[in-house]
Formats: sequence, structure tokens, C-alpha cells
Amino acid sequence: MAEGTLTGTDKKPRRIGITTGGGDCPGLNAVIRAVVLRASLEGIEVVGIEDGFGGLMSGTDSGVRTLTPREVLPLLDRGGTILGTTNRGDPFSYPGPGGARVDRSAEVVARARELGLDLVITVGGDGTQRIAFDFDALGLPVIGVPKTIDNDLAATVETFGFGTAVQVVVDALDRLRTTAESHDRIMLLEVMGRDAGWIALHSGIAGGADVVLLPELPYSAESVAAALRERIRRGHHFSLIVVAEGASAIGEEVATKAAAGTLGGRQAPLLGGAGHRAASQIAALLPDLEYRVTVLGHIQRGGTPTAYDRLLASRLGVAAVEAALRGEHGVLVASFPPDIRTVPLADAVNRVRCVDPEGQLVAHARGLGIEFGDRPPGVSGGPPPEG
Ligand code: F6P
Repeated sequence: MAEGTLTGTDKKPRRIGITTGGGDCPGLNAVIRAVVLRASLEGIEVVGIEDGFGGLMSGTDSGVRTLTPREVLPLLDRGGTILGTTNRGDPFSYPGPGGARVDRSAEVVARARELGLDLVITVGGDGTQRIAFDFDALGLPVIGVPKTIDNDLAATVETFGFGTAVQVVVDALDRLRTTAESHDRIMLLEVMGRDAGWIALHSGIAGGADVVLLPELPYSAESVAAALRERIRRGHHFSLIVVAEGASAIGEEVATKAAAGTLGGRQAPLLGGAGHRAASQIAALLPDLEYRVTVLGHIQRGGTPTAYDRLLASRLGVAAVEAALRGEHGVLVASFPPDIRTVPLADAVNRVRCVDPEGQLVAHARGLGIEFGDRPPGVSGGPPPEG
């Protein structure tokens, strides 16, 4: 690869980098594909940077490679990312010897200059976009593409990967229902989403859950138990409960499996255990029922993206290159259906978008008789489910 000079975006880029950071999600490869296809129409070379910014740092196993249309064409339906990714490789706070954190950002900028990258497209969630924002401020032009199954990025209405994750959860609920019904059991399904309940709420509605426990609506086990009792009184001897991993009872902390800094330097605590915890709390009040807990985990992040996620990812990839051609940087390409627009990267960092407890989505769920366990027993926001 020839050496070049970082030109900024004052002229048409000749060579751009692309990297995927944070947790993977279905649709990342579709973005990479779209960026390469759109860029190739302009004669722009695309350089894939492996493992977040690891490919621009010495002493890592990661590197860079030119991506060709021929290589990316078959990627539309492939889950994961061919570039690899990491959520513990922040160059501004990189794991160093003895647990120390080292700022290696200057090295990344120098390597990008050496490679002649005019701009880097960063595909990632809030953590990755914060890093991108800092690099842009440092003089390495960046355009962000939002991704996360959690759907919690503040600066965009939707993220690809989310719809696929919801579909996985709905499929699981469909399967859990038949076994729950056969055994008269209470089935709890713990789903991802971190501090936001989007996956739990969308899949709870689409999958016909009876109870949904959200981070945004702390629950009381008494209210959930009362709802289950009422279902039994009406002849429904089984129930499906979707538990967001960030859900907790009123006054309780979020359930975590591992603290920040553990598990090889992961920078945020790993959530987990909310499903089993809720099962114990409810079982203490209704000991005669049978409970089973399923934790879907990373199954929600793997596999083929849905048609809509492929569409959204492809459009964002094209829009990122077109923003670069217009000379933009320090921006995020964001979805405001039916349009894709650019917004300042600053809008995307350090802010998550959570479910509005007073919003229409929650109200519609209550209207279906879905119980959130947030109100005293007997108080419902919607019409009582008959039958
Ligand atoms: O942010 C995406 C996400 O899948 C969250 O829903 C989940 O809490 C977390 O990542 C899991 O992270 P890891 O891949 O490090 O286990």
C-alpha cells in the first residue's frame, strides 16, 4: 500500500479506512459491502482496519487490508464482521502493563497518515462513536455509522441489528409458549439491551408476552405475582415473562455477571442474572408454580440480518461515502425514516435513548394487557384482557 498524506476532507478522498468497533451485530458486513461498492464507483480505495482501531496499533495481531468489490459482494447476508471487532480497545485508554491505561491515540493518527487515509468510517455504538469523535477532534477525519442491537443511540431513530435481535427473541417466545403451555409453567426469558428496554418491549409485544420487565420501569414482584394469579384465575396456567437484562425491582441494583475491567479488560460491567433473580422473587410469592429461565445471550447478536436490517445497513454505508464526497466529517449518518441524514457526532456520544415509560409504545403494550409490574396490584393502564 503506497504512503499518502492525510488530506482532510477539503478534496475528494482517495483512500478511506473503515473499522467496526464494540459488540458485533447483524448488518455490519452489509455496511462494509455498501461502503466499498459506493466508493469503488468513485475510484476511492477502501482500507479495512481490523479489530476496532487495533489494526492501526503496533504490537497487536490486527492489521489493515484493501477491500475490493469482489471480496465484499457476497457479504450482504453474513452476520458478524469480516474485520473483527472489540469492546476493549479504546486507543485513548488502551490496556497497558499491570492494568494501567495508556493513551495510544497519537500512534493511531500517525499510522492513518502513513497509510494515506483521508478519512475513517467508524461503524459502532456509543462507545465507538465517542472514540471517533475524539479522533476527529484530533485531526483524523471520521464519519460514524451507528450500530447496536440495543437500539439505544440518541442521535438516530433506529439502528440495524436491532430488528434481527427482536426477531430472534420473538422466535424464542413462540417456542417457549408451546412448552410453557404443555407444562403449565412460568417461563422467563432474559434478553439483552443493557440500560434500555427496546429489545424486551418490542419482542414482548410482537411475541405475545404476558409480563415484560424493563430497566425504565422498576418492578415490584408483588405486582407481577398478582398478574400471574389473575391469569390463573382466568384459566391461563402458564405465562411468558420477558426480562430485560437491565431490569430490576424497585430500589434494587442492576444484576451484573462481571465488573468493569474484568474479563480481559472489558470497559463496562457485563450485565446478567436479571431473569433468575426475578424468577426467585416471584417464586417466593407463588411457590406452587413451576419456573424455568432461559437466557438468550449472544444468540441475539449472531446470524443473518433481516431484510430490513440489510436495507438500513446498506443505505447507511452508501450515505457515509456520500457524506465523505460532500466533504463532511465529524458526523454520524443517522436514520430518520424515510431519510438518512448526517448529524454531529457530538449528538451521538455519552447519551443513550431509553424507552419512554409514558410513551405510546408502553401505553399500547398496557392496552394489550401486558403487565410491567410497576404499578400496585390491580392497577392497569389498559383494558383488562378477557378470556
Ligand atoms: O451492546 C450490545 C450488547 O449485546 C448488550 O446488549 C450486552 O449487554 C453486551 O453487548 C454484551 O457484551 P459482550 O459482547 O461483551 O458480552
